[in-house]
Amino acid sequence: MILIHTPNPKEVAAYLDLFRRALPQHDFISLEQLVQPDAVQYVITWGAPPQLFATLPNVRAVFALGAGVDKLLTRDDLAAEVPIYRLLDGGMAAQMAEYVRYGVLSYQRHMDVYRRQQAAGEWKMLAPKRPAQVRVGVLGLGEIGSAVAQTLAADGYTVSGWSRSAKNVAAITCHHGADGLAALLADSDVLACVLPSTPDTQGLLNGERLAALPRGAMLINAGRGDLLDEAALLALLDSGHLRCAQLDVFASEPLPHSHALWAHPGVTVTPHIAAITLRDEAVSQIAANLVRLAQGEEGAGRVVRGRGY
Ligand code: GLV
Repeated sequence: MILIHTPNPKEVAAYLDLFRRALPQHDFISLEQLVQPDAVQYVITWGAPPQLFATLPNVRAVFALGAGVDKLLTRDDLAAEVPIYRLLDGGMAAQMAEYVRYGVLSYQRHMDVYRRQQAAGEWKMLAPKRPAQVRVGVLGLGEIGSAVAQTLAADGYTVSGWSRSAKNVAAITCHHGADGLAALLADSDVLACVLPSTPDTQGLLNGERLAALPRGAMLINAGRGDLLDEAALLALLDSGHLRCAQLDVFASEPLPHSHALWAHPGVTVTPHIAAITLRDEAVSQIAANLVRLAQGEEGAGRVVRGRGY
């Protein structure tokens, strides 16, 4: 038996329908239909209620309906030996590339500056910049980060990337480790972060590292909110060291109404929409994994717990 749960009942109904069609031989149920908790072998979820897993003694694997599994990894009701699978790309890489590309293009074409000039009724042309004159640093070079970096490189931007371990991505200058991060920051007019939240990345974008960006740089954060020191970002925007920011993720979501980021003229706030799970993509990836597991094979996207993704 396979339990599907998200906080949105309509979404659960849609997933039940898609999974039942994809794998008619399996028994998919919602939480409301659950009468035999010990019969549940797999859970497909996003935002599972606290202690749900404590009531399911025979779970063999959990499938996240998203790419970032930070919330699953910090639960105390899910035994460490239960494998967790995350979505790999799942249509998210293309969306993330669009989101970052929008930010980089608006930076290149000074749209943030023109918005401020408009608010002040100011008519002033700025010198144009070619894409190659904008250096973009992408933090994270997994499925999503590599796609972002390559999309920007194809647009003509000068792109570098950084990852925890050494990587090779065509057309991208790749850095890794602490020295690599310092080199990337010093050379990034736009820093685009798509990293997951792990013990290694939390707090990575602190005041010191943001201050290491060149004067007039932009920050795009579409990874996780707990990577960024929001107060340090605001201070660097106010001092003029950073020019603008495009933020999709926050330390607290929804971003509290009183938060200074909402009203800051240099900040674009979006409500965690940079890359949304596409249902049909998620179903085909998870269904393929269920088939692999049934055949005794390893599934794709298994999370390495100590690494956090
Ligand atoms: C969204 O933030 C995800 O991790 O899929």
